Amino acid sequence: MIIKLTAAFISSLISVNAIAATPLGLPPVPIPANNPQSAEKIKLGDKLYHDKTLSADGKVSCSTCHEEKKGFTDNLPVSKGIEGKSGTRNAPTVINAAYYTSQFWDGREPDLEGQSKGPFINPVEGGLASHQVLLDKIRANKDYITAFKKVFGVTNSAITIDHVAKSIASFERTIIGGNSPFDHYQYGGDDKALNAAEKRGLEVFLNKGRCVSCHRIEQTQALFTDNRFHNIGIGFKKIQAKENQTAAALVKKKHNTKLDMDAEVLTNKYVSELGRFAVTENLTQVGAFKTPTLRNLSLTAPYMHDGSLKTLEDVVDFYNNGGRIKETDPLSGFQSGGIRPLHLDDKQKKDLVAFLKALTSPEYKKMAGK
Ligand code: HEC
Ligand code: HEC
Repeated sequence: MIIKLTAAFISSLISVNAIAATPLGLPPVPIPANNPQSAEKIKLGDKLYHDKTLSADGKVSCSTCHEEKKGFTDNLPVSKGIEGKSGTRNAPTVINAAYYTSQFWDGREPDLEGQSKGPFINPVEGGLASHQVLLDKIRANKDYITAFKKVFGVTNSAITIDHVAKSIASFERTIIGGNSPFDHYQYGGDDKALNAAEKRGLEVFLNKGRCVSCHRIEQTQALFTDNRFHNIGIGFKKIQAKENQTAAALVKKKHNTKLDMDAEVLTNKYVSELGRFAVTENLTQVGAFKTPTLRNLSLTAPYMHDGSLKTLEDVVDFYNNGGRIKETDPLSGFQSGGIRPLHLDDKQKKDLVAFLKALTSPEYKKMAGK
């Protein structure tokens, strides 16, 4: 018994330590004052994150679409939830989501706590009728009752959706990834961490490709995002020439009904393409999406909010053509001024891809069996 307790105590110390250690190339994880990390809370969040019984068909958990073995994505163009129902968007990785200043491709939730409440009751994700149904399931489970009591000091009937959200968010704040070959080169003083092609690719990224203007690299760390929203020309074809009508219809619906935006965005393929506009109703943000991190791209294909680009070669061609699949394709009327043809030659394109592949964290590569 004593041995058992000691082992549990030591392992809890180790995991608290593991939260505190910041990997090379990343800033410390922001922890909100009202939701401090603890080993027990992280463990509870981990359990909730992987629990398929908390969905309408008993087959869907967070990890269905954000799976360890797939760089915390599902490697599908757009996600599939209960009964194989398809949504409208590509599942972003959870790795380093803790650093974003808003969540989802359109930033409609401010933080991980807010984000984690949506999937349980989204009709194409967890599919539960309400958060009450979720809480009923949790309150009927002895292990959960014990765990929530331990973490939050609440008894059965006092467990709320906020406790659930806080636990999951705490777990997600441990899913972070730096320490890539790029980090060892850039921040670790190891000149050999990148090969010649990857170093040339970094040059393209910083200069001729102008990637860094949105996918930021700072003096002491690199999140590869500016946490802002841009229309780079993805997906607009679905609402081409209908942007204004689609936008007006959504605004009307938002103002006349109590609209569940999470469900609306993920079930209506036209509204999905409005991007940031759906949140701000600012016409300059039609088709604008959040700049995603570029870390661990080699594990998270396909790419973009609609999963429309299969490979990193396709992504680089897309940018090289000024935000178009083909140079002859029309441009979105709302496209960001920062997206212009780049005139990269074949070698520069190859080097840029090599660099993007050098942003993979060793532990997630290992989890993916690569
Ligand atoms: C059916 C698949 C599915 C399930 C289940 C699911 N997600 Fe997601 N997740 C997605 C998709 C798709 C998006 C992007 C939606 C959007 O941007 O509108 C997303 C977005 C996110 C984001 C935002 C990341 C970013 O870059 O902005 C986080 C964090 C996240 N999910 C965590 C979770 C958690 C926690 C759960 C469980 C409570 C969960 N997801 C369940 C598919 C899923
Ligand atoms: C004007 C800002 C901006 C610039 C410049 C830019 N990006 Fe992006 N990038 C974005 C945004 C926004 C998205 C998401 C767009 C979407 O899904 O609609 C994105 C998406 C991506 C993705 C997909 C990531 C994923 O997880 O799906 C890759 C890869 C990428 N960019 C690489 C690059 C490279 C390489 C360059 C330089 C050639 C570059 N970006 C230049 C803003 C930018």
